[in-house]
Amino acid sequence: MAKIGITETVLRDAHQSLLATRMSIDEMLPILQTMDKVGYYSAEVWGGATFDACIRFLDEDPWERLRIIRKNMPNTKLQMLFRGQNMLGYRHYADDVLEYFVQKTCANGMDIIRIFDALNDIRNLETAIKAAKKEGAHAQVAMSYTTGDVFTTEYYVNYAKQIEEAGADSICLKDMAALLTPYRTAELVKAIKAAVKLPVQIHTHYTSGLASMCLLKGIESGADMIDTAMSPLALGTSHAPTESLVAALQGTEYDTGLDLMLLNEIRDYFMTLRKKYLDNGLIDPKMLAVDPNALIYQVPGGMLSNLLSQLKQAGKEDKLTEVLMEVPNVRKDAGNVPLVTPTSQIVGSQAVFNVIMGERYKTVTKEFKDIIKGAYGRTPTPIDPEFRKFILKGEEPIDCRPADLIAPELDTLRKECAEWTMQDEDVLTYAMFPKVAPKFFEKRRNSQFGIDGKNADPEKKIHAV
Ligand code: CO
Repeated sequence: MAKIGITETVLRDAHQSLLATRMSIDEMLPILQTMDKVGYYSAEVWGGATFDACIRFLDEDPWERLRIIRKNMPNTKLQMLFRGQNMLGYRHYADDVLEYFVQKTCANGMDIIRIFDALNDIRNLETAIKAAKKEGAHAQVAMSYTTGDVFTTEYYVNYAKQIEEAGADSICLKDMAALLTPYRTAELVKAIKAAVKLPVQIHTHYTSGLASMCLLKGIESGADMIDTAMSPLALGTSHAPTESLVAALQGTEYDTGLDLMLLNEIRDYFMTLRKKYLDNGLIDPKMLAVDPNALIYQVPGGMLSNLLSQLKQAGKEDKLTEVLMEVPNVRKDAGNVPLVTPTSQIVGSQAVFNVIMGERYKTVTKEFKDIIKGAYGRTPTPIDPEFRKFILKGEEPIDCRPADLIAPELDTLRKECAEWTMQDEDVLTYAMFPKVAPKFFEKRRNSQFGIDGKNADPEKKIHAV
């Protein structure tokens, strides 16, 4: 019996991390049926930035992508990444929209929904967990891993207990910024496993060169599942290579049970894609190198490149070090938020403004103000009341679950996008990307690509066996 479960990320996070989420369904299709034979614990194929990339850049209906993958991988559990009350968008949604999203996602074939909140505020996850359970899906909650005085082992153990109480099926330690070290991983996994009964999965990126070591120490400490990527799209800002981990564990009590010969067949296919992406510039060879900056500055790789491009636009590239020194100050003022979408962008932009304006908080972005206000939820440490007063300038702070202040909005959204709708799911695409979706719908109507017109029947759930 296989002991360690492998979640294959090559169809979602690997290409999101290395080539800005640009792998299309046409590029996936030839290999899906072979991948379905592997016996992965699950395949992460949807969510995160894939939805946005589908409609913005690839002229692809994301729901149709899910249906095609489901059809071609009937024996593999499909998994997605979901930003809690933000779904796959960038604001908080009303519960009725979130529940409908989860219902449609499961009806189209999703098995495992990995849910996380940037602030690790359990209140922002409760509706999503309940909705997933109601649809018969596996609800995994991912804890956003970060470093700092507040983020002790006790902090994560306490959060793990909240996750278990909220009814989740498993826990993922999500190290989006590649900040985990091997011994820290061991300590955390041991403590979490001792405190809760749920299976524990590790998700870490290769950026700082430590991922394989972290996974191995995590496995030895009791982790049940790990995230990896097929080697042609592994390493760098992506994940540890699937084949290497399978080989490392072969013949041990942690054996994954996966067949290296079959994986090699899949590797050959992805090698041709890798070559294509390197040739057309979608993969920047820099992304494949180990970058210890993540460990030095404690910021995610994607955030580093965002900061640099923001500074370039302002003609202030020489200020990068100053901005990197300012990030921890802004983060502290913002209640020590972990740096993950969307907080990484919000803290990053505010740090850039603080430096280029020559005065801290002379310009305050709306999103930063919202964090201080409580509009994203409860921050890991309370905001200093004086600082809050200074930033809010008379506006009232929020202390409840932010979505409690949002009235049901599904009906209004349906009316707004009625002229474009070709399937029930379209209202959700519109809800998350109200600016891009109409352009996408317009293009879809006037072209060959699109959907086969069949909505998923919510009564007939098509989970993997
Ligand atoms: Co990731």
